[in-house]
Amino acid sequence: MHPRRYDGRMAGIEDFKGKWALVTGASAGIGVALARELARHGAKIILTARREERLESLAAELAARGTETRIVAADLNDPDAPQQIYDATEGAGIEVDILVNNAGLGQFGEFYASPIEQEMSQVRVNCEAVVRLSRLFVPRMVERRRGWVMILASTASFQPVPYITTYAATKAFDRFFALGLAQEVVRFGVKVTALCPGPTESEFFEVARSGGIMNRGVLPAATVARLGVAALARGQRTIVPYLSGRFTAVLVRALPTGLITYFIEKIARKSLPSAESRLAEPTRRG
Ligand SMILES: NC(=O)c1ccc[n+]([C@@H]2O[C@H](COP(=O)([O-])OP(=O)(O)OC[C@H]3O[C@@H](n4cnc5c(N)ncnc54)[C@H](OP(=O)(O)O)[C@@H]3O)[C@@H](O)[C@H]2O)c1
Repeated sequence: MHPRRYDGRMAGIEDFKGKWALVTGASAGIGVALARELARHGAKIILTARREERLESLAAELAARGTETRIVAADLNDPDAPQQIYDATEGAGIEVDILVNNAGLGQFGEFYASPIEQEMSQVRVNCEAVVRLSRLFVPRMVERRRGWVMILASTASFQPVPYITTYAATKAFDRFFALGLAQEVVRFGVKVTALCPGPTESEFFEVARSGGIMNRGVLPAATVARLGVAALARGQRTIVPYLSGRFTAVLVRALPTGLITYFIEKIARKSLPSAESRLAEPTRRG
């Protein structure tokens, strides 16, 4: 490959028109909203997730508004799934210019008592699949000197969050991965954005079996998607939708991590389902 120079042209949201966008986790929540938003700006959409019937119904909705769509059903717990998605799209001649790494899941509760499969699934879907998909699709974007990659992080990526310990750590990974990759590929005209929403309306809280205070999203998924897609178009590296989220992100970085984590644990423990865990004070010896 002979590297060509990126011409430095400022791309806008109108550049999404006619491009193929691959959206993971497009069967629910933020992924559905992102697919609709990208389609609204004229992108052609590849939808992927496990629940195929949901993908079919979203594809039908988008097609009715004139959007070209494809569906690839895949389980991102499977390390071979990203290659299968690639083979069915880019490998089959579809130039994927926009990669949206949105699929993800969480698990609320005490780490030491939670099912290991759910913990590992977070690592596989939230982190491993993001790296694999990016590694497959980004080289073609670099060759073409154009591309956009969105990675769903979270406001949970700015500090450790006890009782969603693994989830918050995976989201910190996602945010740092996005930032590092963004710096590597910007000179080739490829833009990478970490979208960091606070609690958003979706099925996330149901899947994460949350109870108590952390039991629902408050931001509309459509608004998060609109702000995220606009940030992606202008090449913004990090976007935290809503002022409250931005304020928290700044605050937690200004304070010592240990202190923030101490207070989050105190508050979150009150909402744990097990009374034993709610009441127990940490031992001074451990
Ligand atoms: N909602 C929030 O408050 C919030 C806040 C910050 C960040 N986020 C992030 O936003 C992203 C989307 O979450 P959401 O809130 O929209 O949750 P959601 O409504 O539960 O949707 C999650 C999506 O991920 C897909 N997914 C999960 N496991 C998968 C697997 N093994 N293989 C393939 N796809 C899988 C699901 O599809 P199938 O089940 O059909 O496979 C679904 O489409 C996640 O990365 C999450 O961490 C959410």
